[in-house]
Amino acid sequence: MNSLFVLGYFYSSCILLLLVHQASSWGPLDPTKSFISLPFNRSYYHIQKPYDVPENQRYSFKNGVHRLWVFATDKPHTITSQTKPRTEIAIQGYNYSSGVWQFEGHAYVPYGTSGICIMQVFGADPPHATTAMIRVYNGSLMYYQESVLVPSIYNRWFRLNVIHDVNAKKVRVYIDGFLKLEAQGRGGTSHAFKCGVYAQNNDSYYMESRWKNVKILKKCD
Ligand SMILES: *[C@@H]1O[C@H](CO)[C@@H](O)[C@H](O)[C@H]1NC(C)=O
Ligand SMILES: *[C@@H]1O[C@H](CO)[C@@H](O)[C@H](O)[C@H]1NC(C)=O
Ligand SMILES: *[C@@H]1O[C@H](CO)[C@@H](O)[C@H](O)[C@H]1NC(C)=O
Ligand SMILES: *[C@@H]1O[C@H](CO)[C@@H](O)[C@H](O)[C@H]1NC(C)=O
Repeated sequence: MNSLFVLGYFYSSCILLLLVHQASSWGPLDPTKSFISLPFNRSYYHIQKPYDVPENQRYSFKNGVHRLWVFATDKPHTITSQTKPRTEIAIQGYNYSSGVWQFEGHAYVPYGTSGICIMQVFGADPPHATTAMIRVYNGSLMYYQESVLVPSIYNRWFRLNVIHDVNAKKVRVYIDGFLKLEAQGRGGTSHAFKCGVYAQNNDSYYMESRWKNVKILKKCD
């Protein structure tokens, strides 16, 4: 082998490595890197469902899959509430007011479910009640009704990561490891994560979402 050839080989390997490195930085990320996963079981959450029906009429947990459903004609979650119907996993065990927090879950929305919020970061300065809402309208996954995260979301599992940096007032939304949205926080003194089905405007008669591998994470300090 002459030295020119070796040199050429060396340079092309470097270029190849560079290309591989660049390609991987364009691929999906692990948004949970540098976060720690906190203990999570039923003592950290409760199910909110229409107040006049038993929980097993709107929620099931089988083979690691939470299934939550609600009807447009259902009652709110409490007798005094004026809000639309919901069946939600309300995570009351990790209320936070500072720091960087993350929700991770694998979600599935069946065809036909529309006009709903499937995940929310509760708590904001009035007049808002929430810092983020991930919704489904007409088959699209959306941030509120403002921007489309994924145009076509029905009938497939996807991974949702929502990161809330309270002090920096920032929310980041990742779908399947890709950053889809960076939004402003909305203030508030106490926050909590929720997921499931919560009717919004233009809601379909039947609404359902399924969840597995739900994790609550906090950034290491
Ligand atoms: C839930 O997890 C906590 C912390 O790991 C533990 O102390 C508690 O016993 C668990 N509860 C249930 C119902 O498994
Ligand atoms: C967490 O916040 C929710 C909603 O603001 C509240 O209902 C709940 O009592 C709080 N839980 C704890 C443990 O502070
Ligand atoms: C979804 O479809 C309904 C009915 O066609 C329409 O009124 C609504 O504006 C649509 N929503 C979005 C966010 O596109
Ligand atoms: C959808 O909701 C919007 C806002 O609530 C409302 O103005 C519109 O009439 C609704 N469209 C349908 C088809 O129900």
